[in-house]
Order: sequence, then structure tokens, then C-alpha cells
Amino acid sequence: MIQDMKVSYSGVQPSGNLTIGNYLGAIRNFATFSEQYKCFYCVVDAHAITVRQTPADLRRRTYETLALYMACGLDPEKNTLYVQSHVPAHAELAWALNCFTMFGELSRMTQFKDKSAKHSDNINAGLFTYPVLMAADILLYQTDVVPVGIDQKQHVELCRDIATRFNSVFPDTFTIPEPIIPKTGMKIMSLADPTKKMSKSDENANSVVYILDDRDTIIRKFKRAVTDSDTCVRYAEGKDGINNLMNIYSTFTGKSHAEIEHEFEGRGYGDFKLAVGEVCADALRPVQETYAALMSDKAHLEAVMKKGAEEASYYARKTLSKVQKKLGFVQIR
Ligand code: TRP
Repeated sequence: MIQDMKVSYSGVQPSGNLTIGNYLGAIRNFATFSEQYKCFYCVVDAHAITVRQTPADLRRRTYETLALYMACGLDPEKNTLYVQSHVPAHAELAWALNCFTMFGELSRMTQFKDKSAKHSDNINAGLFTYPVLMAADILLYQTDVVPVGIDQKQHVELCRDIATRFNSVFPDTFTIPEPIIPKTGMKIMSLADPTKKMSKSDENANSVVYILDDRDTIIRKFKRAVTDSDTCVRYAEGKDGINNLMNIYSTFTGKSHAEIEHEFEGRGYGDFKLAVGEVCADALRPVQETYAALMSDKAHLEAVMKKGAEEASYYARKTLSKVQKKLGFVQIR
């Protein structure tokens, strides 16, 4: 709790290629979130290096990710936006927490098992202790809630276990955080296989619409979207492709399924797909324009990073020095 407000903490990978699924499912709600919570958003460059990165790409994507989140509506005046490596307390707390995390616990993490299968030539210790750094991220800010995708729930649960263990030895150190998993209500599916979730790492480029795709690309991808052999635009069991397009259209326009069915009565799928592409491109245009303006002013982005790092450090240092005192580290000033 900071100044009577509950704390929300989220880490974002510096990958910069967010999809309309990320946008409609989560990012669009960020603005309302900051009314309810004191929000921290961290670009996790230290997590990124657990798999090999090209340094120039990582650096560029760190700027891009910050700019993209800001373009989608994250206001640096209302949220603390910063880069993980700018706040050394993360690495320092992670070390202490390593000593309160069991080898067996880390061995059971499904992301570690998946990633070590995928990067079998580089199963480094950082990949193994990734969840401990994530626990440090969260616990440094006395976080109440952690909005994450279902794939990160296990890591947040481990974070709770580590915090509880630490608190049982040293009472009242950490707030125990709760994961918040967004409802699957607005799940955007792949355009190529509408039974699968739209994923930014999908190999089929036509299955995913990125926030930064240009207008022609967006319209072309929707034109190619997989539908069915029916010809009528209606929401029904078994019409996964059309249902997905109707959901997307509905989220962008605010129209109900019934209104959409009425609007496209007697018109073919071609017309409907074009309309979905157009509303999507129209809705993303202001985001893309803001993004371009932000990316053309690196000095401004760096000023945002600096302010964010200062704010974050203030809270992080408080927790870290409490931990160091409890552990018995000598404090000199
Ligand atoms: N591991 C998260 C992911 O891959 C990113 C992350 C890092 C994070 N630190 C966090 C998420 C703290 C929530 C809270 O998406």
C-alpha cells in the first residue's frame, strides 16, 4: 500500500511487437487501472538476457516497448514506467531471495522446462533463477496485485511462496501479492486458426495483426482470415473464424453481435472482412502516430526512463534496506 492506494506491478518483455490481442485484451484497460492502483510498469531487460540477445536489438526494443506502451495510453505522469536495469535494487534483492528459494521449486517451473528444451545449448543459471528475479521485481514495491497472463501465474505463486517463507523467518517484510488473470472474455484468436489464441510468436505472419502493422497490411491480413463455408455473418457455435472477427469488430466499434448481424445482413464475408480491417486500422492510427512521434524523440524517452527509475528506486530502496537490516548486513551511510 502506498499513500492509501493498492500497488499493481507488471513487467513487460522488451519485444515491442504487441498484437491487437494484447491491445484489446489488456493494454486498453491500463488507463482505468491507474485510477484504482499505484501502478508500476517495468521493461524487463535483465530478464531478456536469460536467452541470447543481439545488444543493438535489445537496446532498440527497450525504447520501442516504452514508446509503444505510452502510445497505447500509459501516461508516465500517472504510472511509474521504468527500465529494470536502471534500478539495481532488483538484482540485489534477487540475490537475497535466491537464498530463500529451493532448487526443487525452480526445477518445477514449466517455463524453465520449456525454455531449456528450446535453448538446449544455453541452459544458464539466469534462466533457472528467472522467477527469483521476477519475485524481486514484485516484492520490492510491496505489491498487492500482479496483472499477468495465465502463463505467468506459476511464477507469481512461487513469488508468494518465497515471500511467505521470508516473512516466516523475518515477520512483516513483504506484502504477499495476488495474481490477477484477465478474464478470457475478450480473447482474440489467430486469423489463420481461430481455435488458437492470437500469439505474437506465431510462425504464420498472416495469423497475427500487430499494433504497428500499416493499414494495407492490416486489411490484407483480415481479408485472408480463415472463416467457414456459410455465407451469412452471424455469431454461432462452430463459426470460430466469424465469431472472432465479430468480437474484434464489436470491441473496436462498441456494437453488439446482433447489431453487427443486422449491419451485414445480405452481404458476404468479403464486405465484412474489409469492414473489420478498416475499423481496426482506423482505431490503431492514432496509436501509431503517437508511437512515431515518441520514437523520433529519444531524449524525451530517456527523460521518462530517468524519472521512472528515480521514482521506482525510492520505493525499492526502502524495501531493500529493510531486508538488508533483517538479514544482518551492516548498514553504513
Ligand atoms: N516474466 C514475465 C513475462 O514473461 C515478465 C515479468 C518480469 C513480470 N517481471 C515481472 C510480470 C513482474 C509481472 C511481474 O511476461
